[in-house]
Amino acid sequence: MNDIRIGIVTISDRASQGIYEDLGGPAIAQYFAEVLDCPWQPVTRLIADDQPTIEATLKALCDDARCCLVVTTGGTGPALRDVTPEATLAVLDKELAGFGEQMRAVSLQKVPTAILSRQTAGVRGQSLLINLPGKPKAIAECLDAVMAAVPYCIDLIGGPFLTTRPERIVAFRPKAK
Ligand code: MTE
Repeated sequence: MNDIRIGIVTISDRASQGIYEDLGGPAIAQYFAEVLDCPWQPVTRLIADDQPTIEATLKALCDDARCCLVVTTGGTGPALRDVTPEATLAVLDKELAGFGEQMRAVSLQKVPTAILSRQTAGVRGQSLLINLPGKPKAIAECLDAVMAAVPYCIDLIGGPFLTTRPERIVAFRPKAK
């Protein structure tokens, strides 16, 4: 068993009730299958837009499943049931606000409603958490905007050494001081 686990959390009332298919979770798994060239395992969850459930799921993936990276999709907008950023902030030790800023800036080049996403990111223990919007096409757009910095962030929090396929993403690791 390899020790690189990536949590993939789809947060959607309707997908979790089976009203429609979860397209976001598989799109995230596909993204990492294309971009990473180290062995890794997905740990997937499909849950409702319920803040206590989201918090418990994120904590379990970080603390028990020991995922070095946990990516959520959905629940980042302004609607009443959208509480993913609140749940994420409630479990983070440190917010990394630049991730959300960069993902929105890049997404705004594609779609004006990117401004509606409150997506953020941050660190809990030895895990990096990243929120993505619920639209499947937003997944690669947003991850491409931040992925170059993800392996080094995981280095800095004491996680495993992630490597990427350079033709997709060149991971940036500053030289040792
Ligand atoms: N970002 C990208 N890259 N592409 C998109 O299509 N959709 C936006 C925004 N961010 C979108 C995007 C829309 S329409 C909304 S409402 C917000 O993300 C929040 O989506 P969520 O509540 O499904 O997370």
